[in-house]
Amino acid sequence: WGDEEKKQKLIPPSFGSIARGIKNNKYKKIILMTGAGISVAAGIPDFRSPKTGLYSKLEKYDLPYPEAIFSMEYFKKNPKPFFKLAKELIPKDLKPTPVHHFCKLLEKKKVLHRVYTQNIDTLERKANILPEKLVEAHGSFAYATCLKCRYRYTQKEIQPIIMKGKVPKCKKCKKGVVKPNITFFGENLPSGFSLAHRDFPKADLLIVIGTSLQVMPFGSLIHHVNEDCHRLLINKEEVGVYRKSIFSRGHKGFRFNRSDNTRDAKKLGDCQEIIKQFVKLIGWEKEFNELLDES
Ligand code: APR
Repeated sequence: WGDEEKKQKLIPPSFGSIARGIKNNKYKKIILMTGAGISVAAGIPDFRSPKTGLYSKLEKYDLPYPEAIFSMEYFKKNPKPFFKLAKELIPKDLKPTPVHHFCKLLEKKKVLHRVYTQNIDTLERKANILPEKLVEAHGSFAYATCLKCRYRYTQKEIQPIIMKGKVPKCKKCKKGVVKPNITFFGENLPSGFSLAHRDFPKADLLIVIGTSLQVMPFGSLIHHVNEDCHRLLINKEEVGVYRKSIFSRGHKGFRFNRSDNTRDAKKLGDCQEIIKQFVKLIGWEKEFNELLDES
């Protein structure tokens, strides 16, 4: 390369330079990774934020550990705590947030490669993101299955029972408990997730929004993009960062504040406010506000 290009390569991207890149159509295959933080503004608490997160409200269920509420072995023993929590989680008449609409706008601008969400609230569907552009990596409430005879139910069929705080029982085999198709710890991730290993190396920009990146294998996806793919974290707190340790063997976490960082940028704060700033910098307010007004 010329020296100029070499110098360019070594300067890490920033929130502003990435916005300019999107504006100038530099990024054509953008992957989004989202978590509970993007739906807090829709009225669904996240899991791990201290005091407000769902995991801090589970004392009443005397669980061995918070995630047990999403584990198969505990569910089979006692499905009640899960269905009490499901009453809070199951999407009622919730509306997509500006972040959900931003994902849809990227799709309309033909630069969205895929949205990988951990959320089970189906707000991406409500934002009309095309099914082929969406991977619900932890499943969703859209369908439910009898654990005995595998008969499938829609959310509409089991929501009224859940809203009454009851455990939905299978009408067909009369024996099984009907469990929403959200991925429990110990279960395989939905087939769409296997797309990731082919998908991520194609990305030229990865944007991670509203997730603690604590749950694997989802959290490890940030390592699957190529070395020259820019990565932007938009979150209340810094997560997934590089930790020098004897085991890290080139752990490819975010490398903010490191001299060898040539691809990671971060913008910490409320994701909804940040996305509105982002849209402004890109120059897409008009279409963005039309999407907000439509919803
Ligand atoms: N703006 C930006 N970030 C936010 C906001 C907000 N308004 N609200 C919360 N956050 C951040 C929190 O600081 C936290 O880093 O979003 C992240 C939410 O992390 P978690 O609560 O752990 O949610 P998530 O990462 O989606 O959890 C992953 O854990 O229990 C499992 O299967 C469940 O899919 C879930 C998985």
